[in-house]
Amino acid sequence: MTNNSTTLKIGVLGSGSGSNMQSIVDAIASGELNAEIKIVLSDVQSAKILERAEKHNIPHQWLDCTPYKTKLDKDAEVKCIQILKDHGVDTVVLAGFMRIVKPGLLKAFPMRIINIHPALLPAFPGVHAWKQALDYGVKVAGCTVHFVDEGTDTGPIIVQRSVPILSDDTYESLHARIQVEEHLAYPEVLRLISTGELHIDGRVVTAG
Ligand code: GRF
Repeated sequence: MTNNSTTLKIGVLGSGSGSNMQSIVDAIASGELNAEIKIVLSDVQSAKILERAEKHNIPHQWLDCTPYKTKLDKDAEVKCIQILKDHGVDTVVLAGFMRIVKPGLLKAFPMRIINIHPALLPAFPGVHAWKQALDYGVKVAGCTVHFVDEGTDTGPIIVQRSVPILSDDTYESLHARIQVEEHLAYPEVLRLISTGELHIDGRVVTAG
């Protein structure tokens, strides 16, 4: 286990496969990351991220977010904060969570909500970022882990990892290459938070 680190108490919010959550689970299991995943919440009842949580005996719950498709309604937000607090969460990890986080949640966990985005921000915010990058014709793509603020994919950048774009890339091949880097980036950022190595000056985040 990493020395001089605080055990992070993580709450994960996701809507899909949960491969990023899996990378965090694996980093904890290997001793690379000093953290516990306290709760996994998904707005999609059938999401694989909930199956993964079940498999690893991590408490998990479906968060009913109707009637909105892309944001948390007030009731869901209040419930979400309550569940995270009840589980002693101090760090919220958005891992493929397809809803916009609202100010109430941000206030409940100031500078303790992080997100991973499949592009080199500030380029290509929003959905299907790797498709946007390929269609645009950029030669380098990648992923970004950032603090969440009130904008969409606009918060202070913590870590970025790049991948080349190959001449025969498809949307699928590029996304797969980006995900390999995501699975390194998220545990690394959480490790930096647990060891207190991140310094924030305005929107500039440095490590070390
Ligand atoms: C990742 O590509 C992440 O960058 C984006 O959503 C995807 C989630 O994948 N925000 P997974 O559910 O972690 O496999």
